Amino acid sequence: AARPDLAGRHVVVSAGGTREPLDPVRFLGNRSSGKQGYALARTAAARGARVTLVAANTGLPDLAGVDVVQVGTAVQLREAVLKAASDADAVVMAAAVADFRPATYATGKIKKKDGQEPEAIVLVRNPDILAEISADRPRPGQVVVGFAAETDDVLANGRTKLARKGCDLLVVNEVGERRTFGSEENEAVVLGADGSEIPVPYGPKEALAETVWDLVVPRLG
Ligand code: C5P
Repeated sequence: AARPDLAGRHVVVSAGGTREPLDPVRFLGNRSSGKQGYALARTAAARGARVTLVAANTGLPDLAGVDVVQVGTAVQLREAVLKAASDADAVVMAAAVADFRPATYATGKIKKKDGQEPEAIVLVRNPDILAEISADRPRPGQVVVGFAAETDDVLANGRTKLARKGCDLLVVNEVGERRTFGSEENEAVVLGADGSEIPVPYGPKEALAETVWDLVVPRLG
């Protein structure tokens, strides 16, 4: 059993990927499986934390001893995370949240019309939950962790993103169609607002999750 260094703590983890509906049958989504978020929730519970897992479209079974809140869209994920974060010691945003959503929702299925070009999809910005929580911590002193999937210039983009979001730690990994998403393994660098840079070698998502908690624990008030 892991050491109970999160005993008495409440942590909030988001997992999966949001789906932004266009009509009753279609959505804009992403390739996040939710496995990294689930690994974070499972390991935090094993280390003694009370865990709220906000899960977006993962299709993964609930975790014993973890309070799971199912959501669909970015707006719903924001509501659920903010609610749970009010008394949380740490918030880890592992979910892939859509940056944009369709500006309009068609209540009936969108039809193709003979001889007409398809209509363009107009997008509007979603709230940036990580930036919002980092700037205005629902509980003073709580530790906020973000994830960043990058396809190129991974470290430079990660540093810029950490500063822009204002979180304490940013887990940066390189992604592509055949890397990370849906797989059981991950490889990452954890950047700290204090300038630290901790590489995590390719390995199980559980191992990266343990490293994240190892870095969160000393930052807890
Ligand atoms: O900006 P980008 O989407 O790359 O940032 C990724 C990080 O920000 C993740 O931790 C994700 O959960 C969070 N995020 C968010 N709200 C958004 C977009 C991303 O909290 N609208």
